Amino acid sequence: MEFNEVVKNRYSCKKYSDRKVEAEKLTAILEAGRLAPTAKNLQEQHIYVIQSEDALTKIDQITPCRYGAATMLAVAFDKDNVYTYPGGKRDSGIEDATIVATHIILAAANEGVDSCWVNNFDPDKAAEILDLPDNEEVLMLMDLGYAAEGAGALPNHMKRKTLDETVSYI
Ligand SMILES: Cc1cc2nc3c(=O)[nH]c(=O)nc-3n(C[C@H](O)[C@H](O)[C@H](O)COP(=O)(O)O)c2cc1C
Repeated sequence: MEFNEVVKNRYSCKKYSDRKVEAEKLTAILEAGRLAPTAKNLQEQHIYVIQSEDALTKIDQITPCRYGAATMLAVAFDKDNVYTYPGGKRDSGIEDATIVATHIILAAANEGVDSCWVNNFDPDKAAEILDLPDNEEVLMLMDLGYAAEGAGALPNHMKRKTLDETVSYI
């Protein structure tokens, strides 16, 4: 798909059918995350693909936002392998994982796969149910699947501020 079409087509899907994402498409989606830039090329992300009934049931215990998706991703990062920027006030972990997740969410749209970014969960509980090592933190969860019949973008999808409101030329 043409890039602008991908960006325009993506929306947060909040009702999925039980159709699973095909393995080939899932690989292409994950590949786009693999190619994301990270500070100093540290590639500290770790993506968990959650598809078993058992794991999905556990996910439902920590967030109301699976919306029936048959696949969820957890995008985590290695807290011990982040780049601390000069000055020592910030490090790259959250933003590197965010860029990876953004690549993935756009790649999903490119494959015709619906998605939703989910931050409505407790990262400590996510770490517990995913049995994460101590050095990893979950940045976000992502629903992946196909919209249920009749489901589509919510009205706020169209309500974006104008460039005038969000951009300043100085
Ligand atoms: C950082 C972030 C966190 C979000 N967390 C949630 C969430 O926990 N649950 C949910 O249903 N949607 C969540 N969303 C989806 C937003 O509600 C949605 O992107 C926004 O309303 C704009 O709609 P659109 O994605 O359809 O354009 C999140 C989106 C972002 C970018």
